[in-house]
Amino acid sequence: MKCFNFLIAIVVVFGVLGVCNGSGLRENFYKSSCPQAEQIVQNITWKQVASNPALPAKLLRMHFHDCFVRGCDASVLINSTANNIAEKDAIPNLSLAGFDVIDEIKTQLEHTCPRVVSCADIIALAARDSFQKSMWQVLTGRRDGSISHASEALANIPSPFFNFTTLQQAFANKNLNVQDLVVLSGAHTIGVGHCNLFSNRLYNFTGKGDADPSLNSTYAASLRTKCRSLSDTTTTIAMDPGSALTFDNHYFSNLKIHQGLFQSDAALLTNKGATNVVDEMLISGPFFTQFNQSIQRMGAIGVLTGTAGKIRKRCSVV
Ligand code: HEM
Ligand SMILES: *[C@@H]1O[C@H](CO)[C@@H](O)[C@H](O)[C@H]1NC(C)=O
Ligand SMILES: *[C@@H]1O[C@H](CO)[C@@H](O)[C@H](O)[C@H]1NC(C)=O
Ligand SMILES: *[C@@H]1O[C@H](CO)[C@@H](O)[C@H](O)[C@H]1NC(C)=O
Ligand SMILES: *[C@@H]1O[C@H](CO)[C@@H](O)[C@H](O)[C@H]1NC(C)=O
Ligand SMILES: *[C@@H]1O[C@H](CO)[C@@H](O)[C@H](O)[C@H]1NC(C)=O
Ligand SMILES: *[C@@H]1O[C@H](CO)[C@@H](O)[C@H](O)[C@H]1NC(C)=O
Ligand SMILES: *[C@@H]1O[C@H](CO)[C@@H](O)[C@H](O)[C@H]1NC(C)=O
Repeated sequence: MKCFNFLIAIVVVFGVLGVCNGSGLRENFYKSSCPQAEQIVQNITWKQVASNPALPAKLLRMHFHDCFVRGCDASVLINSTANNIAEKDAIPNLSLAGFDVIDEIKTQLEHTCPRVVSCADIIALAARDSFQKSMWQVLTGRRDGSISHASEALANIPSPFFNFTTLQQAFANKNLNVQDLVVLSGAHTIGVGHCNLFSNRLYNFTGKGDADPSLNSTYAASLRTKCRSLSDTTTTIAMDPGSALTFDNHYFSNLKIHQGLFQSDAALLTNKGATNVVDEMLISGPFFTQFNQSIQRMGAIGVLTGTAGKIRKRCSVV
């Protein structure tokens, strides 16, 4: 009974301090089991970003795709086998990359503290550490899943052709609200998209050889000089031209001048509540504050903690 009271006292104190967040994740989970863990992730990520400026976008998107399928359990890292087509080989995997960086980090961690740090935490930490300045907090203690199916990626990852209703539903399925949807879409302030994922907006929006009227016509003309046809599957376009490598709030000012690249970006302006959030995000302070909150909610989706799941030895195999 005494012990029980003591436990309650601990739960209350930690709850008040905000160390627990209800998901079972904690700040600095590896503090005693692998004190150097977070530093190792940061060092290797920084080294790799220095030689590959496109990497932050890859790692941030990897984190998103991991969390939306079976929760943040590193299922996105599992290789297909003779009997199973894994998430990696699903259609929305297009241009997922950075797996080699996760592997390098994992190899170093297995050397320093074998079987302690999960692949799922490595993804979440590396996505944050892609940026010189730490822009959001990452709680840790995720464990790894062992199931990965391409069909589940297809069913859970929102498509760039989604409208507001289907986007809202895809996020609601993960307990994320419209605020999270808009704020997290701000991640499209870095990185690139392939022409075939939006060229219908340039060439054949309603099947009459027309352009999407919600796309800025000047911008559409410039995109047509780069994406030469509906079937161009190889050319990539910066989603935030001008500052494609900088994590800022320009995504939202692009939206306002109808320069969101995908239909799913433009769709955010088709709903009153979402448009209000877009307007709030035009100021960078609130954007950074809200992104920190929303990505922590994303990073807690369906996490395996405690004794659930396991710690994989190699991230690409179960
Ligand atoms: C709201 C629903 C979303 C849709 C429909 C969507 C769709 C897409 C698509 C189609 C691409 C381009 C892929 C390619 O052509 O290679 C892309 C890129 C990207 N997405 Fe999203 N996304 C969404 C939300 C998110 C979220 C929540 C994040 C992260 C928090 C994110 C981060 C990124 C990043 C960083 C890239 C650039 C990747 C690169 O440069 O290789 N996206 N997204
Ligand atoms: C990380 O890098 C810093 C600076 O290069 C170095 O001083 C530190 O020892 C490294 N830490 C680990 C754990 O690799
Ligand atoms: C997983 O697949 C990648 C290529 O898709 C390959 O480079 C890697 O070696 C594979 N991992 C293992 C452990 O077989
Ligand atoms: C994506 O899936 C295709 C098969 O559908 C595969 O050939 C390709 O290597 C995968 N890409 C990545 C980055 O895993
Ligand atoms: C992110 O939010 C947490 C509270 O959830 C706060 O402690 C932390 O300082 C914030 N981090 C950044 C980089 O803004
Ligand atoms: C959104 O897309 C879904 C699925 O394609 C469709 O059923 C629905 O009618 C669309 N909603 C609007 C408002 O266009
Ligand atoms: C545009 O779409 C219509 C209807 O889907 C189709 O018949 C036509 O072939 C398309 N045009 C091109 C250039 O693909
Ligand atoms: C289209 O983009 C230009 C800048 O390239 C901007 O001045 C103009 O206001 C935009 N038009 C609309 C309708 O948003």
